[in-house]
Amino acid sequence: MRRRGLCETIRGMVRDIRGKRTLITGASRGLGVYIAKALAAQGAHLVLSARETSKLAEVARACEEAGAKVQTIAADLSRADDRARLIDEAGELDILVNNAGVEIAVAFTDQSPADIEAQLTTNLAAPLDLMARVIPGMVSRGRGVIVNVSSMSGKSVTPYNAVYTATKHGINGFTGSVAIELEGTGVHLGTVCPSFVAEAGMWADHGVKAPRAMREVRPERVAKAVLKVIRGSSEVLVTPGPVRPLLALAALIPSATGRFLKLLGVTPVLAERAKRSAAMREPATEREDEADRRAG
Ligand SMILES: NC(=O)c1ccc[n+]([C@@H]2O[C@H](COP(=O)([O-])OP(=O)(O)OC[C@H]3O[C@@H](n4cnc5c(N)ncnc54)[C@H](OP(=O)(O)O)[C@@H]3O)[C@@H](O)[C@H]2O)c1
Repeated sequence: MRRRGLCETIRGMVRDIRGKRTLITGASRGLGVYIAKALAAQGAHLVLSARETSKLAEVARACEEAGAKVQTIAADLSRADDRARLIDEAGELDILVNNAGVEIAVAFTDQSPADIEAQLTTNLAAPLDLMARVIPGMVSRGRGVIVNVSSMSGKSVTPYNAVYTATKHGINGFTGSVAIELEGTGVHLGTVCPSFVAEAGMWADHGVKAPRAMREVRPERVAKAVLKVIRGSSEVLVTPGPVRPLLALAALIPSATGRFLKLLGVTPVLAERAKRSAAMREPATEREDEADRRAG
C-alpha cells in the first residue's frame, strides 16, 4: 500500500471536484437529486445510478444543462450481480457517494423478514460491497473519497425505525473504522448524518412534520454536507442546531434516552409515522412476491 506524507494527505483533502469521476447511488429522486445537482455545479463528471431509469434520465438532463458530463447506469443494489456490473461500467472512480437507502419505518413487530433483508442489504451490505470494489483501486492511485450518506439514526436510537437504525449505526461504525485503516493512503472516507429533511426524500414523503423542538432541515444542506466530506470532513451532522452535547448526554445516561426522546417529542412523531406507514403498505404477501420476483 502506498503511504503518503501528512502534508500531501491534507493537500489532497482540499479537493478540486472539477472533472472528478463521481458515482452517486440513489440519484433518481429525493436527496440524491440535490447531491447530483450540487456536484454538477462544481464540475464533477457524474455517474448516476438507481433502478428507475426514466427518473434517472430526468436528473441526468438537469445536470447536463448545468454543464456536467453525465453517465447513467441502472442497477438494483440489492443484487450482487448488479453491484458488480455497476462498478465495472462506472470505471475508475475518484469519488463514490453511497446515498441509496430504504427505510421501512414501522414497529419492529410489523417488519417482515423481507423488510429486514431489504434494509440490511440496500443500506449496509450494498455500500460495503461497493466500497470493497472501489477502495483497492483508489489506494493504488493514491487518491479517492467515499461519502456515506448515513443518518442521525446512526448516532442515536430511533424507535419505530429499528432496522433502519441498525443499518445506519453499521455504516457509521464501518466508515470510521476503515477511515483509520486508510490514513496516509490519500483515500478519505466520511459520513453525512441528516436529521429530518423537509421537501424531498423519505421523511418528507410520509407527510408527518418533525417535532417542534427538532425542526426540519433543507435538502440543500445535505448536498453541502456531501461537499464538506469530499473536502476533508469526517462526519457532518445535518441538524437544525448543535446536537453533539445531547448525544453525549444520551451516551452517558443510556437509561434516560427513552424519556429524553419522549420529552423532545420525537417518539410520538415516529409512532404516528409508523402507524401511517403500516396503514399505507400493501399486504406482506404482495411485498414478498415482489422481493421474490426481483431475486429472480
Ligand atoms: N430524507 C431524509 O429525511 C433522510 C434523513 C436521514 C438520512 N437519509 C438518507 O439519505 C439517503 C437518501 O434518502 P432519500 O430521503 O433521498 O430517500 P428516497 O427519496 O426514498 O430515495 C432513495 C433513493 O435510493 C434508491 N434506491 C432505493 N433502493 C434501491 C435499490 N435496491 N437499488 C438501487 N437504488 C435504490 C432510489 O432509487 P430507485 O427507487 O429508482 O432505485 C432513490 O433514488 C438514504 O441513505 C437515507 O437513509 C434521508
